[in-house]
Amino acid sequence: MGDGYGDRPEGVLGAAELFDGVGLAYERAFGRLPAQLAAVAWLTARLPAGARVLDVGSGTGRPVAALLAAAGHEVTGIDVSRTMVELAREQVPGARFEQVDVRDHTPPEGGYDAVCAFFPLLMMERKEQIAAVRRMASWLVPGGLLVSATVPADVEGLEITWMGRRARVSSFSAEAYLGLLREECGLEVLHHDLSVFTPEVPGGEPEEHLFCYARRGAAAGG
Ligand SMILES: C[S@@+](CC[C@H](N)C(=O)[O-])C[C@H]1O[C@@H](n2cnc3c(N)ncnc32)[C@H](O)[C@@H]1O
Repeated sequence: MGDGYGDRPEGVLGAAELFDGVGLAYERAFGRLPAQLAAVAWLTARLPAGARVLDVGSGTGRPVAALLAAAGHEVTGIDVSRTMVELAREQVPGARFEQVDVRDHTPPEGGYDAVCAFFPLLMMERKEQIAAVRRMASWLVPGGLLVSATVPADVEGLEITWMGRRARVSSFSAEAYLGLLREECGLEVLHHDLSVFTPEVPGGEPEEHLFCYARRGAAAGG
């Protein structure tokens, strides 16, 4: 599945290619995000033992899937990058990982108690991000939790250099992303916070991050 933009200019990578190349360097640069660790702690404090959790764009499996699996949850990670899936399988044997695009993933019958989605959608065009967030919300059991993060910015198809690679990214302002969770997905946003993180790489540029904790209504379909 492509990114929705049609042909990419030469040198601009799709998500799978880009993250195949980044591999473990991602974890070294971004593996100690305080806001992400807080989000996972918040989630594990609320989940019943053995909860079924999906981590979308699970990367190297650390820290998110590793922490959730260590807390005793049944964790599935999905990622479009083969390298990331291989790394995650090696590093987190207590979770299962599948190489699949979030747009093609089929949830198990009964869905998930929680879905984590930390920065997996930025390389899709906005209409595809909206569809993906709606689908992830629909995979939750009534009362289930969607914990997500994005880089808030009102951009569509912006070419950038990130981790030394050229990519095309899209995103939403913080207000629009919260509106997507609330109005498009019918979720209750329980908490959101903005933070700034500088990746731990030479010359790392500060990034703004938006973390959101949201819940599907208790009534089916709510
Ligand atoms: C910025 S990294 C974040 C990794 C991890 N969620 C974390 O926060 O540590 C984004 C991850 O999402 C994956 N990804 C990007 N587009 C995806 C898609 N359409 N479906 C599934 N995974 C995707 C990438 O391969 C990459 O591993």
